[in-house]
Amino acid sequence: MTGPVLAVDQGTSGTKALVVCPERGVLGSGFAEVRPRHLPGGRVEVDPAELYDSVVDAGRQALAAAGTDVVALGLANQGETVLAWDPADGRPLTEALVWQDRRAETVCTELAVHADELRQLTGLPLDPYFAAPKMAWIRRHRTREGVVTTSDAWLVHRLTGACATDAATAGRTQLLDLDRAEWSPRALEVYGLADERLPRVTDNAQHIGTTTAFGREIPLTGLAVDQQAALLAQRITAPGAAKCTYGTGAFLLAHTGDRPRRGTSGLVACVAWRLAGVTGYCLDGQVYTAASAVRWLTDLGVISGAADLDPVGGAVPDSGGVTFVPALAGLAAPWWRGEVRGSLTGLGLDTGPGHLVRALCEGIAAQVAELADAAAADLGAPLDTLRVDGGLTRSALLLQTQADLLQRPVEVSALPEATALGAAALARLGADPALGVEQVLPDRKPAAVYEPRITADQAAERRARFRAAVTALLGS
Ligand code: G3P
Repeated sequence: MTGPVLAVDQGTSGTKALVVCPERGVLGSGFAEVRPRHLPGGRVEVDPAELYDSVVDAGRQALAAAGTDVVALGLANQGETVLAWDPADGRPLTEALVWQDRRAETVCTELAVHADELRQLTGLPLDPYFAAPKMAWIRRHRTREGVVTTSDAWLVHRLTGACATDAATAGRTQLLDLDRAEWSPRALEVYGLADERLPRVTDNAQHIGTTTAFGREIPLTGLAVDQQAALLAQRITAPGAAKCTYGTGAFLLAHTGDRPRRGTSGLVACVAWRLAGVTGYCLDGQVYTAASAVRWLTDLGVISGAADLDPVGGAVPDSGGVTFVPALAGLAAPWWRGEVRGSLTGLGLDTGPGHLVRALCEGIAAQVAELADAAAADLGAPLDTLRVDGGLTRSALLLQTQADLLQRPVEVSALPEATALGAAALARLGADPALGVEQVLPDRKPAAVYEPRITADQAAERRARFRAAVTALLGS
């Protein structure tokens, strides 16, 4: 089946939509902002209605801009965000607890004795980042009514009436049996969720239902968690390369083939996608705050937005000895210390906005470099290059810093919206089972390649400074 598809990327800070044509590329786009609330105690929540409205709004904008019909819809979602809702009418019963929310620490502490068993079963460490601890928290503290699911299942229900989630998103819950890519009765029992009505686990490309939310009938044929959608769009379908998406957080993923590889370096083992019943796997590492750290610096008045990173940071030659650990919502892989908070050290009377911006870029890049090293260790071979996408790839300063600290070339995706392009590819695959993965992934040249400009010794010195700052936090 040929014809344009509508791809919707429902992310933490907004929803992007693209109308993508196999022959002519992107025909139209739309965007609708989402405003999560950052509350005391590490709580981050969002009104579910805002998520749904942003999907419809961005999708309608893209369709209007493209002025064409589409043959299918692909939907990417933010992964570990959960809510309770009424399956009778789709009404939300709680706010949505965003993936960054830390309130389920209490659940994790209580289940600590099961941490190793859960990790072996699901590939994930016990951490409130994942969906299951938040689902259990909602059941204990908010409501026993309705169903409790990740946000994608609710969006799919609102759009089509189906109650479904894809294998990759289900793999972010800590309730999925990693080897079978199906719900794990044992993990559900440990979490006290054995009696829950769970969404059906679908392939990432298959017919799920039909929606009229965009003013016409469109079959929903592609579903994915956003990071895995970007992995697909970056054409990483076999072991060897890795991608990093710099969005609200920064997420590095490396494909590991069609068998789960439980790493020993602190990364998460999870489902990349399940296509025609065949499951591919990946390793995943996270920097919880990337664009949200930029937003934090903006809210403090140091800069007026992400567009300032390059001019403000470029006005000084280096960070002036300032080191920033961007753990504003805790440290994830490879340390898994969610309770830790960020640090800014080495400040002097001469520290200015440019130094802070450079320290921020270095902090994000150094943490991504740690994740890349962990992936290489688990794969048993160094990564050739890092393929990057996401909104913050508009900052040349960040990407040059990344190449410098990684001591590897960094290839920038031709389009920053890789996640939406991955959702578009899945929608095409689901609409036309005769197509193969290679046929739905256009081979675009990178928009730019950043080569390292500092020596290996200089990179090692900067990374040692970052690690020392992390060590100080871990010991605190
Ligand atoms: O795990 C959460 C992540 O997938 C959210 O992505 O693009 O909203 O930062 P993003």
